[in-house]
Amino acid sequence: MSISNLAPIPELYVSHESAQKLKTEAGELPSWDLTARQICDLELLMNGGFNPLKGFLSQADYDSVVERMRLEDGTLWPMPITLDVSTEFADGLEIGQDIALRDMEGVILGTMTVTDRWEPDKHREAEKVFGADDIAHPAVNYLHHTAGRIYLGGPVTGIQPPVHYDFRARRDTPNELRAYFRKLGWRRIVAFQTRNPLHRAHQELTFRAAREAQANLLIHPVVGMTKPGDVDHFTRVRCYEAVLDKYPQSTTTMSLLNLAMRMAGPREAVWHGLIRKNHGCTHFIVGRDHAGPGKNSAGEDFYGPYDAQELFKEYEDEIGLEMVPFKHMVFVQERAQYEPADEIEEGVTVLNISGTELRRRLAEGLEIPEWFSFPEVVSELRRTRPPRAKQGFTVFFTGLSGSGKSTIANALMVKLMEMGGRPVTLLDGDVVRKHLSSELGFSKEHRDINIRRIGYVASEITKNGGIAICAPIAPYSATRRAVREMIEAYGAFCEVHVATPLEECEKRDRKGLYKLAREGKIKEFTGISDPYEAPADPEVAVDTTGIDVDNCAQQVILKLEQMGLIAGR
Ligand code: PPS
Repeated sequence: MSISNLAPIPELYVSHESAQKLKTEAGELPSWDLTARQICDLELLMNGGFNPLKGFLSQADYDSVVERMRLEDGTLWPMPITLDVSTEFADGLEIGQDIALRDMEGVILGTMTVTDRWEPDKHREAEKVFGADDIAHPAVNYLHHTAGRIYLGGPVTGIQPPVHYDFRARRDTPNELRAYFRKLGWRRIVAFQTRNPLHRAHQELTFRAAREAQANLLIHPVVGMTKPGDVDHFTRVRCYEAVLDKYPQSTTTMSLLNLAMRMAGPREAVWHGLIRKNHGCTHFIVGRDHAGPGKNSAGEDFYGPYDAQELFKEYEDEIGLEMVPFKHMVFVQERAQYEPADEIEEGVTVLNISGTELRRRLAEGLEIPEWFSFPEVVSELRRTRPPRAKQGFTVFFTGLSGSGKSTIANALMVKLMEMGGRPVTLLDGDVVRKHLSSELGFSKEHRDINIRRIGYVASEITKNGGIAICAPIAPYSATRRAVREMIEAYGAFCEVHVATPLEECEKRDRKGLYKLAREGKIKEFTGISDPYEAPADPEVAVDTTGIDVDNCAQQVILKLEQMGLIAGR
């Protein structure tokens, strides 16, 4: 181990001339529009980042990876890299046929010969790969609610890499990095994986790791897909660039990795190691709770804080990369320096700001001390995360037809407009159905499309600093959750359950629809002949039986105030 990994590794790209020819021919093939995650996977397949994979996993390899972290031939590979597609697309294909793989703008990036097509057991995949079939895990949620039903497998032929317009000079393929290390004469390289801005603790940790391993340092942040709610990669890269100046230039470099993380903790650590080996590294830092997905639905951690280190250690020889394990770093006030938490004697003052605390301080515009981070990083973060009272947010009402959603939403809109400061848009159920979703009916599929459209518009409003108030029925929790995720990437989400009971809604029957539904003249009517999944944990729940609208709107205002979203001028 630690012998350099610097010889060129195989890529899946064909030559430039063949690519031109293949691209024209591929225009005729059935084509699959890749999702954002699949584009990340395909890039790393094609450029050798996922070496030894030669394409999306076959069924036999998938089963073997899921069950025992190995390809069918026994090679260590912990993560199923699969091409998930819709049933309709899969049904139109024949085994042995080629398909074109296109990016979101329709550019053909590669082709795949379909050797396998199967419907995976997603529950098993969740249990075995992520440790629990619990949608609080972002990858399990993705598996059940975003990934297609059918998986296709087969070898890939690379035509061209996905185009990136941002930070081009900072993106390197495995072979480019290997060549760079060769050129600089670097033989021992320790990689640092991160999806967060770098603060002083990280800098200290990477310094120490490089010193311990007597190696050069590669800061290798993920800019593909990370955990929902993370700081966006544009901001992060600006932060990394600010910190990079603080490292000695000749010992450290930074490169961006277009990886779609799965937050699979221990398995993910092993995967990250293999990817870094492919990028020419010899050592890899595994810290506390590596690639941790946060809490499960019972409020407990999915993985133990050092599970990833243990699993990595077990497979270190096979990964071919030495682990540099790190404990949690904390600041010792008396010595004014960072030290591993487990090496500190009793009686000294230990300072620590958790990720949650940092977000709170940013959200409330509070001080972030110099011992914690670099002023350049803090000001960059403040630029993208202004205090909550200046950010956009979404109030999402959900409830039965006639429960009072629209009325309260209207009252809330007026109150917020009276306060001023941010533009307010009301996306009322009926209005949306007229202007955005006029072609849709009330099947589950159509309702989901409708809600996702509302979520998309609300997320854009939130991103741009406005207030979106939505008031659809939104009967399905999974869809509401997806909307919450879309919005929380940009600002706060306040779910308001208008919990007026069905009997009361039916008694009022303001639009006469319940009567028609009972008579069977309206099909799939929510609460009568169609389901309504009540929110388990909304920010606010109001029941309009016996309470006036003004009071309900006031309850929402109070909650918004408590969430820090409205404040004095
Ligand atoms: S959903 O499920 O969120 O997409 O529904 P939404 O867009 O909010 O539309 C609900 C309004 O459409 C009327 N309507 C029905 N509601 C429920 N089920 C059926 N089958 C149906 N058919 C028509 C109804 O007026 C709803 O308005 P509100 O404001 O909720 O009373």
